[in-house]
Amino acid sequence: TNIGELVTHDPAHGAPPDGPGTALSTSSDTDAALGIVRGAAVVVEDGRVAWTGPAAQAPAADDAVDLAGRAVLPGFVDSHAHLVFAGDRSAEFAARMTGEPYTGGGIATTVAATRAAAEDDLRTRARALVTEMLAQGTTTVEVKSGYGLDVATEARTLRVARELTPETTFLGAHTVPPEYLTDRSGYLDLVTGPMLAACAPHARWVDVFCEPAAPTAFDEDEARAVLRAGQRAGLSARVHGNQLAAGPGVRLAVEVGAASVDHCTHLTGADVDALGGADTVATLLPAVEFSTRSPYPDARRLLAAGATVALATDCNPGSGFSSSMPFVVALAVREMRMSPAEALWSATAGGARALRRDDVGHLRVGARADLAVLDAPTHLYLSYRPGVPLVREVWQAGTRSIV
Ligand code: NIG
Ligand code: FE
Repeated sequence: TNIGELVTHDPAHGAPPDGPGTALSTSSDTDAALGIVRGAAVVVEDGRVAWTGPAAQAPAADDAVDLAGRAVLPGFVDSHAHLVFAGDRSAEFAARMTGEPYTGGGIATTVAATRAAAEDDLRTRARALVTEMLAQGTTTVEVKSGYGLDVATEARTLRVARELTPETTFLGAHTVPPEYLTDRSGYLDLVTGPMLAACAPHARWVDVFCEPAAPTAFDEDEARAVLRAGQRAGLSARVHGNQLAAGPGVRLAVEVGAASVDHCTHLTGADVDALGGADTVATLLPAVEFSTRSPYPDARRLLAAGATVALATDCNPGSGFSSSMPFVVALAVREMRMSPAEALWSATAGGARALRRDDVGHLRVGARADLAVLDAPTHLYLSYRPGVPLVREVWQAGTRSIV
């Protein structure tokens, strides 16, 4: 109780849930779009939201917690992260900042370190990153494999990931590993055969780095074979596409009915139109553009076309090592011209859409009681005070942790 501003994303109030592209012009429109209640209370029962509304009308509760006028948001849904790896690539980042381009070639460095690491070391590092994310308000995270690229290490990666989240993704097709560089089709047979068989029991999703411009990533036909094999094994598809250049990623993601296509940095008009008319979410990862010094994706064009836009960190040791959804929201607002309301929606409800989850990313009655409590009166502070640790406490399924 005593919540300064409660963001519920109540669909009864219209956009963004029905159309994140809807222009949000006045502050009262914005409040309605986000389902904002001021002077609010939330009632949590059995880990779920049981009631929201003005505190004065709240039903009596056993244990009332006074939130002292702070803003309460749905916990962030970070729908794209690579958290299971070993090694260090800070020198690669430093080289980029003095002019080297990002090519994806450094993935092999992390693969070598990850193969050599003990499972417990991978577990300890990944857990630490999830804890770091939680402290920044992320209550749902997707975790990919993709730094093993052999059967044993990919399976080990996904076993570790499964301990952390139900949103696990098999990304054996991250790149062609060094030992297969002269035998791409041999690697595809491995990924779609024995590696998939070993990994599918631990994964919900299958992903592929579809980027013909990167010599060690996968072209359209290769990526289609990976996604179709994953779907036959019971996994649902998501795609890394259009990161380094315009290419087939978006088209393929829409064709196979992927939940999301991620990066979307270089899009043609046809790609934008396709995303405007598809269920496939466009997931933007601006911390990668920040860390690779690349142009940012054109969020406004996607929103104008009616695409559903999600925001995620892509936390990984190579292209961008930020675990912070507040940082991503601030970049989206400042660098991609999303309104603060659009960015907040995309970082919560948008991420939930990208994971095809309806129980998280909002605080309507029945949602999981996953809350981020800000040391601020309104969600606007996420981009108004960038770089400041505003998340004061987090609730996960109704259990409170003070950050
Ligand atoms: O999402 N694009 C491919 N994969 C990762 C980066 C991997 C790396 O550089 O280690 C990404 O950006
Ligand atoms: Fe990624």
